[in-house]
Amino acid sequence: MTTSAGTDWAAWQESWDRQQEWYMPDREERLGIMLDMVEALVGTAPRVLDLACGTGSITARLLRRLPGATSTGVDLDPALLAIAHGTFEGDDRVSFVTADLTDPDWPARLPYDSYDAVLTATALHWLHTEPLAALYGQVAELVRDGGVFMNADHMIDESTPRINAAERAQRHARMEQAKREGALDWSEWWQLAAQDPVLAEPTARRFQIYGEHADGDTPSARWHARTLLARGFAEARTVWASPSDALVLAVK
Ligand SMILES: C[S@@+](CC[C@H](N)C(=O)[O-])C[C@H]1O[C@@H](n2cnc3c(N)ncnc32)[C@H](O)[C@@H]1O
Repeated sequence: MTTSAGTDWAAWQESWDRQQEWYMPDREERLGIMLDMVEALVGTAPRVLDLACGTGSITARLLRRLPGATSTGVDLDPALLAIAHGTFEGDDRVSFVTADLTDPDWPARLPYDSYDAVLTATALHWLHTEPLAALYGQVAELVRDGGVFMNADHMIDESTPRINAAERAQRHARMEQAKREGALDWSEWWQLAAQDPVLAEPTARRFQIYGEHADGDTPSARWHARTLLARGFAEARTVWASPSDALVLAVK
């Protein structure tokens, strides 16, 4: 755990959010709907697993909205976990676990063997479809009967190439415009982290672990729903979508 009295964790959270919003201007909307569905299906005091939690973006919004909730965040990135630890230090509703989600034994590191909700955003496209399908089987075992899994991510329907090309061109044009107006992208954000006295060391370690970015797949929302059903969920479908992304919800 990295802590430093002098580090402004809220400022790091803010700049992480702005960087992520450069890719996804509707990020808050999707996270809001995720929490709407948590509340609708598992109530106001859920035990949540924030899967590939990064800085704890989902956990922060969960606790603001549902103060009776508890959360376990799991991730492998030492720098993002340092920000997460710093942000939630002293909050006994929250704990963090360092684990690689492609390691078959990662669930053994969790403090609980059952969750009301497993939530994840903008992360599982770092995995290829085969390990992701295996991960979905493990997630199905962690979710209690009646509990939920939700994944908000970039999901591409390969059967619509002209729609996809037009959407991509428009999205990239908007990103270029935002960049001209000063938005930070992924690598610029990491350059800032590398210059921070507290984050420099875990940032160097994260680049040893991942390189610039992991290389995964972005299957369609239909693939996610179908795979979740095949791996042990009773219902699964999209509950929110943008031209490029979707939020898929599965109920055990
Ligand atoms: C773009 S960040 C999103 C973080 C957070 N969910 C959010 O929305 O702000 C993707 C996260 O997935 C995590 N991740 C990717 N592959 C992973 C793996 N195999 N094991 C654990 N975490 C992983 C990364 O470390 C990173 O924190």
